[in-house]
Amino acid sequence: MPAFRAPRGTHDLLPADRAAFARLEAIADDLTDRYGYRQIETPLFEQAAVFERGLGEVTDVVEKELFRIAPRSDEGEIWALRPEPTAGIVRAYVQHGMQTWPQPVKLTMTGPMFRYDRPQAGRYRQFWQFDVEAIGDPGPAIDAEIVELAMRFYAEAGLGEVELLLNSIGDEACRPGYVDELAAYYRRHLDELPQTERARLERSPLRLLDSKDPAMVELNAGAPVITDHLCGLCAEHFAGVRAHLDALGLAYRLEPRLVRGLDYYTRTAFEVYPAGAGGQQSAVGGGGRYDGLVQLLGGRPTPGIGFGIGLDRVLLALDQAGVPKAPEPSPLAVVVSADPAATVERLRIATVLRAEGLRARADLGVRKLGRQIEGAARDGAHFAVIVGDELAAGDVRLKDLQAGTQRTVPLESLTRELRRASASHRHGEKGRG
Ligand code: HAM
Repeated sequence: MPAFRAPRGTHDLLPADRAAFARLEAIADDLTDRYGYRQIETPLFEQAAVFERGLGEVTDVVEKELFRIAPRSDEGEIWALRPEPTAGIVRAYVQHGMQTWPQPVKLTMTGPMFRYDRPQAGRYRQFWQFDVEAIGDPGPAIDAEIVELAMRFYAEAGLGEVELLLNSIGDEACRPGYVDELAAYYRRHLDELPQTERARLERSPLRLLDSKDPAMVELNAGAPVITDHLCGLCAEHFAGVRAHLDALGLAYRLEPRLVRGLDYYTRTAFEVYPAGAGGQQSAVGGGGRYDGLVQLLGGRPTPGIGFGIGLDRVLLALDQAGVPKAPEPSPLAVVVSADPAATVERLRIATVLRAEGLRARADLGVRKLGRQIEGAARDGAHFAVIVGDELAAGDVRLKDLQAGTQRTVPLESLTRELRRASASHRHGEKGRG
């Protein structure tokens, strides 16, 4: 047993996993660039009030899962690690006067989030989200664009079979009436409510609908649904979202009990699951509209919508679907030599190749040529550059490890030869033939 392990609920990303992550990040970057989103980076921690006020005091994320930081200094601010990106991004929108920029302001961020949750498969205390926010457009067309962007991410990541759940959760005009009716329903079933849910009933009845407690499943199945209570404007907005999604040919399932776990949502709400999965912790992403959040965090009333995709869960789902991991890059060439001790020459030549922009490694071990070449082959290198007696005449030997051929090449044209070879072959990646 090692003396130290990564904290419970966190996981190291070893190189193969990190490469798989990098592939997802590259897809996210490319997609958001195509759709006109600009990257933003906010701190990993904020004043706790940004989350308490933004996400709502009576949410799992704030009540139970917020990582509060006890700072050593006495600055009078209480901080928490970010459990999600939206509140911090909206805080930045208000702080930097982005209301004066052309609207909507379309922002994206990918990075780690922190929730002090009970760790289990797919539920971590540190996890990664790919997040997208469009602030300043009331929709409904942009709602559909955002949903379509999320769905395209799964498709490009290779997760073909996902299910989109869609709902509208109304606004401040129609939701209060619905919440009253929902509370009355739960009060009629008070005996069946677990203790924690009973305590929440008076403060935030809506939270009971997305309770993770298994005892609530049956009760919630009989609860009144918001879509029977939408006001005219919300109903019209929801119809608009569906019409735009239909026009894009995007399939979705209406899920009238989908309320999402954060208080800032209004109107459009959606979640994405790998096909066939059901439980809450398998959601590979979710999002929705938050027309009150900018004002809540001190800005002018401004509508907004966005989504967050859990990259750890996307990788798990890809694994479960049997999609092979992205191969790690291998060196184009490894510089080796007949003299086991000639590390100076190997390092010098590899340094030149790398300065020229090639992916090259020197074997820096003091070991026999055969072992050096074995190492190069194990790395998936296409070529071994063999330094030997020919160096006195300015030559090296270039061994094509994949073809098994070898020829003598002047050192001064080595870069050109390797570049030509790497352009004409699709040079090897680890695990490929
Ligand atoms: P969320 O539904 O709380 O929404 O999280 C989005 C996604 O992050 C989830 O669907 C899941 O894939 C992943 N996720 C959440 N918690 C964990 C965890 N403990 N371990 C692993 N993955 C997790 C939000 O965070 C909103 N900010 C989304 C949004 C953006 N809405 C509007 N704009």
